Amino acid sequence: MGDDALEIERIYIRESFQKQGCGKYVLQQAIAMAQELNKTKIWLGVWEKNENAIAFYKKMGFVQTGAHVFYMGDEKQTDLIMIKTLP
Ligand SMILES: CC(C)(COP(=O)(O)OP(=O)(O)OC[C@H]1O[C@@H](n2cnc3c(N)ncnc32)[C@H](O)[C@@H]1OP(=O)(O)O)[C@@H](O)C(=O)NCCC(=O)NCCS
Repeated sequence: MGDDALEIERIYIRESFQKQGCGKYVLQQAIAMAQELNKTKIWLGVWEKNENAIAFYKKMGFVQTGAHVFYMGDEKQTDLIMIKTLP
C-alpha cells in the first residue's frame, strides 16, 4: 500500500464489550497514531463474510477498494481490502 499507509492488522473487541464504543475508540487511537506518523490513509483486510465488521468499518468511513484471495489449507478465502483516507 506504500509508505503513506498504515495497516490495521485487525480489531477484536471481547463480545460482552461490543457495541459500546470500544471498537470506535481503538480505531481512533490507530488514526491518531497514523497521523503522528504522517500517514495519509489506513487500510485493512476483512473476511468477506464478516458482515458485522464490514458494516462497522463502513460506518467508520472505510471504503472497499479491492479483494485478496488466499488459501487456508485447501479452502479458498477472500478478504475485502478497505481503506480510509485520513483528514
Ligand atoms: C467489529 C467490531 C470491532 C466493532 O466494535 P464495537 O465496539 O462493537 O463497535 P462500536 O460500538 O465502537 O461502534 C462504532 C460505531 O459503529 C457502528 N456499528 C458497529 N457495528 C455495526 C454494525 N454491525 N452495523 C452498523 N453499524 C455498526 C455503531 O453503531 C457505532 O456508530 P456511532 O459512532 O454512530 O455510535 C466488534 O464488533 C468486534 O470485535 N467483532 C468481532 C471481531 C471481528 O470481527 N473483528 C474484525 C475482524 S477484521
